[in-house]
Amino acid sequence: MLLQELLGIEEDIYFVEESYLAQRNIESTLQYLNGVRNFSQGRRMRLLRVREGEHTLGLLIFNPADEEVPVDFWSVFTGALAVVPLKKEFEAIADLLMSSNLPEKDLEISSESWRNAVNEYYSLMLVNRNLCPGCAVRPESYRSVFSENRVLRVAKIFDLLQKKGFYPEGRLLEVCSGNGMSTLALYRLGLDPLAVEINKCVVCQGLEQGVLNPQRVLVMDATAISRYFEPESFDTVMGFMLGLVYEFNKELWTGIMREAVSVACEGALLLFTVSSKPEIEILAGALRRAGVKGEIVDNTDSEGTYDQWLFIGRKQKI
Ligand SMILES: C[S@@+](CC[C@H](N)C(=O)[O-])C[C@H]1O[C@@H](n2cnc3c(N)ncnc32)[C@H](O)[C@@H]1O
Repeated sequence: MLLQELLGIEEDIYFVEESYLAQRNIESTLQYLNGVRNFSQGRRMRLLRVREGEHTLGLLIFNPADEEVPVDFWSVFTGALAVVPLKKEFEAIADLLMSSNLPEKDLEISSESWRNAVNEYYSLMLVNRNLCPGCAVRPESYRSVFSENRVLRVAKIFDLLQKKGFYPEGRLLEVCSGNGMSTLALYRLGLDPLAVEINKCVVCQGLEQGVLNPQRVLVMDATAISRYFEPESFDTVMGFMLGLVYEFNKELWTGIMREAVSVACEGALLLFTVSSKPEIEILAGALRRAGVKGEIVDNTDSEGTYDQWLFIGRKQKI
């Protein structure tokens, strides 16, 4: 696991927050650390610190094996993904704990590597069924789930993009990534998107098949991405085969478009594909209203199913 590699430890590790999303509000983290601060006075604790410059990204507290838990493990606390006031609160408590217990390691790690390591932890928890006790979903074969033709079809969109002078670069976000069929095409093109998908079972499937990169996928509702990412966090936002988009459910999809634009930086590339023309017209309308200038592209083929219509555009200066 990347976390153990980065920290140079072999013992098990556990985050007190139950999900990546909970890392935004770090309720359990603050409660637990305040408890440790109040009850640990005079007692020695083994600590590890992870920092970027002067900022503490993470604090690990060692838990020796006892009758209740018969193995040594480290509890991991982080404020790095939290909203700014909570991030500061985390750092203040961490400083207090470290003032009476010098960490045995003080490791400089980039916030990006730390974020990837945290993502990976929750991905592994998911795919190992630790987040879904009683899961009865049986693994399916790779060939029954993934279609090479579809992966190639997504890859071809990028030839078309290149001809039009658009190409994804910088920090990439893929929304509604499903089990990673479209993400796989991006990986093959050498791109490294952060993939976001609401359905944890399809994410689990993509992880189980070794398709999705566990460090770069999140179970997250794309209608709420601005709650978890700051504005201007991405240089490209993409989504493939969104929908089905109808008049009666269009609010969901136009909401995703607004959110996509809100986390994209000025000049960012926005690319979305759907199956039908009426669907792309609904998405294009929402994107244009949100300040994106772009075009609808006819990408129809004889099969008439996947990625038939595209919207390609750039976020304009507001
Ligand atoms: C047709 S699939 C496309 C999956 C993948 N992009 C592909 O091209 O193979 C659409 C995906 O959008 C996801 N989705 C729907 N609403 C969502 C939301 N609010 N947030 C994130 N993903 C969502 C669905 O769960 C589904 O996996």
